[in-house]
Amino acid sequence: MHDPKSETATLHAGGASMQAPLLKGTMGPDVADLRGIQQNLGIFSFDPGLTGTATCTSKITFIDGDAGTLLHRGYPIEDLALNASFTETAYLLLYGELPTTPQYQAFQADMNTHRLLNEQIRNFFNGFRRDAHPMAILCGTVGALSAFYHDGLDISQAEDRDLSARRLIAKVPTIAAWAYKYSIGEPFIYPDEEMSFSENFLHMLFARPGNHYRVNPVLARAMDRILLLHADHEQNASTTTVRLVGSTGANPYACISAGIAALWGPAHGGANEAALNMLQSIGTREGIPSFLEQVKDKNSSVRLMGFGHRVYKNFDPRAKILQATCHEVISELGLERDPLLDLAKELERVATEDDYFVSRKLYPNVDFYSGLILKALGIPTSMFTVLFAVARTVGWVSQWKEMIEDPAGRITRPRQLYVGETKREFVSMSDRG
Ligand code: CMC
Repeated sequence: MHDPKSETATLHAGGASMQAPLLKGTMGPDVADLRGIQQNLGIFSFDPGLTGTATCTSKITFIDGDAGTLLHRGYPIEDLALNASFTETAYLLLYGELPTTPQYQAFQADMNTHRLLNEQIRNFFNGFRRDAHPMAILCGTVGALSAFYHDGLDISQAEDRDLSARRLIAKVPTIAAWAYKYSIGEPFIYPDEEMSFSENFLHMLFARPGNHYRVNPVLARAMDRILLLHADHEQNASTTTVRLVGSTGANPYACISAGIAALWGPAHGGANEAALNMLQSIGTREGIPSFLEQVKDKNSSVRLMGFGHRVYKNFDPRAKILQATCHEVISELGLERDPLLDLAKELERVATEDDYFVSRKLYPNVDFYSGLILKALGIPTSMFTVLFAVARTVGWVSQWKEMIEDPAGRITRPRQLYVGETKREFVSMSDRG
C-alpha cells in the first residue's frame, strides 16, 4: 500500500506491519526501501527478472520508458548524438560533466596511448580456432588483461580505478578488431594514435598492410553514432552483471569480461545479429506474412528480433536516431536497392501497423537498425555484438566506478523462494532400487 502523504509504504504480513521509507530520486518513480523486510516481517520480496526492483542508486543514466526518454548525466541522447563524439560522451559518463576543450584534448591524448596491447597478448589469439566466435575471443582476452596490467589493480585507489577504466575503453576495440582479423586470417593492424576513436576502429578492422585504406568520414560518423548510442543504458542485464561481479571486489577486467558474457545472449546484445539472421531467413517481402504468423503463434518461440524492449514501451529514442543514420549510410554507399534493407523497411512497416505489436507496445529497438548499418559498413554479423561490447565498455566502467565509490555498496547476494524437497533422510545407493 503506497500512501503518497506519509512518504512511506506500509506493508502488512501475517499480523505484523512495516513502514518502508519511500526513497526519492531526482526523476522517476519513488522507490520503497525494502531492506528491512526480512528483519521486520520475516519475509522476502519476490521479483525474478528484477522488473520492479531498483538494485542501486545511480547518477549516470535516466530512462523513462513510457515517454521514450534517455538521458546521460541529464543530457538527452538526441543532443549528444547530434553534437558530441563518442569520446566526449565517454568522458561525460565517466566523470559526470562534459569536458572543456583542454580536458577533452588531454583525455583523448591519454586514451590514445592506451590503445596498444602488450605485445605478449598477440600470442593469445593463436590459441583460438580461426572459426571461434569473436565474442568468445573478446570475453577470454579481456578477462586475461589483469594478468598483463598489474599496476592499476588496487580498486580502493581512485587513480587505479581511473587507469583501469581508461585502459579498458581504449584496449577493447583493439582486441575486438584483432579478433576479426584473426578470424579472416589477416595480419593484425596496430592502432593509430592520431585517429579518432571510430576512425581508428574502422582502420584496425579494414586496413591491410600495403593498402591505403582511407576512412570515409560519413561512415566514421555513423560508426561513432552507433557507439555513442550504445554507450550506456542504465541497469540492463550486462551492467547489472558488471556491478554484481564488481560487488565482490573482483578486478575490473574480470568484471567487464563478465559483462561481455552477459551481453552475448540473443535477448540482450546478440539481438542485432539475430535481427539480421532473421531478415536473411525471411528472404523476401513475400515471406513476411507467414513469418509474422509464426511470431504471433503462442505455441512458437519465434520472436520478431529487434522489436520490443523491457523498458521502452514507446519508440526507443536510439532507434529513431539510427533510422536516420541508416538512410545516410545507405545513400552514401549507394545501397538503396539492397534487397535486405528493402525487406527490413517493409517488415518494420507491416509490424508497426499490426495490432499484435501495437497492443503490446512493441516498437523497433536500437538493434533493428544497428544491424542494418553495420552490414552496410561491411561488418560481418558475428562482429555485431562485439561492437556493442566496444561501446558498452564505457557504460560498464562508469557504472563499475560508481558502484565501487558508493559508500553504501555491499556484496550483491539475493535470496530465493525455495520450492524443492523438504528435509529428507539419505538413502544409501544399495537401497534405492
Ligand atoms: N516479438 C514477438 N512478441 C514479443 C516480442 C517480440 N520481439 N517482445 C515481446 N513480445 C510479446 C511477448 O510474447 C508477450 O506477449 P504476451 O503478453 O501475449 O505473452 C509481450 O510481448 C510482453 O513480452 P515480455 O517477454 O514480457 O517482454 P520483456 O520485457 O520480458 O522482453 C525483450 C523484452 C527485449 C527481451 C523482448 O521484447 C524480446 O525478446 N525482443 C526481441 C529481442 C530484442 O530485440 N532484444 C533487444 C533489446 S534492446 C537492446 C538492449 O537494450 O539490450
